[in-house]
Amino acid sequence: MATSLKNKDIINTKELSVEEINLIMETAAKYERIMDEGGRLLNMAGKVLCTFFYEPSTRTRLSFETAMLRLGGQVVSVAAATTSSSAKKGETVFDTGKMVQAYSDIAVIRHPVVGSAQELADGSDVPVINGGDGAGQHPTQSLLDMYTILKEKGKIEGLTIALAGDLRNGRTVHSLSLLLSRFGVKFYFVSPKALAMPSEITDELRANDVDITETEDMLDAVPNCDVLYMTRIQGERFDDPAEYEKYCNAYIVTMNTVQAAKEGMIVMHPLPRVNEIAVDVDMYGGAAYFRQAANGVPVRMALLTLVTGQE
Ligand code: CP
Repeated sequence: MATSLKNKDIINTKELSVEEINLIMETAAKYERIMDEGGRLLNMAGKVLCTFFYEPSTRTRLSFETAMLRLGGQVVSVAAATTSSSAKKGETVFDTGKMVQAYSDIAVIRHPVVGSAQELADGSDVPVINGGDGAGQHPTQSLLDMYTILKEKGKIEGLTIALAGDLRNGRTVHSLSLLLSRFGVKFYFVSPKALAMPSEITDELRANDVDITETEDMLDAVPNCDVLYMTRIQGERFDDPAEYEKYCNAYIVTMNTVQAAKEGMIVMHPLPRVNEIAVDVDMYGGAAYFRQAANGVPVRMALLTLVTGQE
């Protein structure tokens, strides 16, 4: 089973089988255990990871690069690729893929245009991982989100998950809803009507008999959910700054919110937060968002080794 991910591009959570997802979870847990025990891993020794980031990132780029270094591999990295790579001179993402395969064993790309990770993969013979393509998908974020829920709640099946904020533009909630829907969860989708989850996703989930409640009121969800997954209003995806201003304070989790919550509810956020979660909520035991970000390293270690056949 371990070879089923070898040479696979990780572009979209829909393209992963349940067996592959479970394998990623198990492999991440194994690496986390080894690191906690002070062990060293050399699975990627002699291999090179290339990271191309055409949009800003703190967690995704640094945790992929940390993951590669913790596996004994090496990294070549282009941050601000729009201005500092030959994209500035007009090189296509497809042609960049030809260069990726010449210089490295695996690549991660973040790009503002939906479909660009697939374009890099089309140009490259080495595996490509989507680190976020516009308002499309962010599959590795969703895998680390699932890993976090497993660690925090001990299971996925039977949980009620509230996804709140900018569900129209937030790529993390697109890939996460499609991923978790295959593991027996119920959803609340909490957003202003103008920022609702795209109908192609809700239609697909409903066609698969997934239980979804859509609401504009976060307090409809909070007393009933096991996981409250907040997202930032994605200012960079708005053409009209006035529209962003209208919605940027739509939902703010405070201590009053968590006091109204179902017992044991955890609060997640892919980060960065702007003002969606008040800083004093960080003291709440169920505030899982910084633990969630840390889980990016073992999950991305698992992905790097599995798609290169180095597990
Ligand atoms: N969650 C996430 O993608 O964070 P960055 O934008 O900092 O990578």
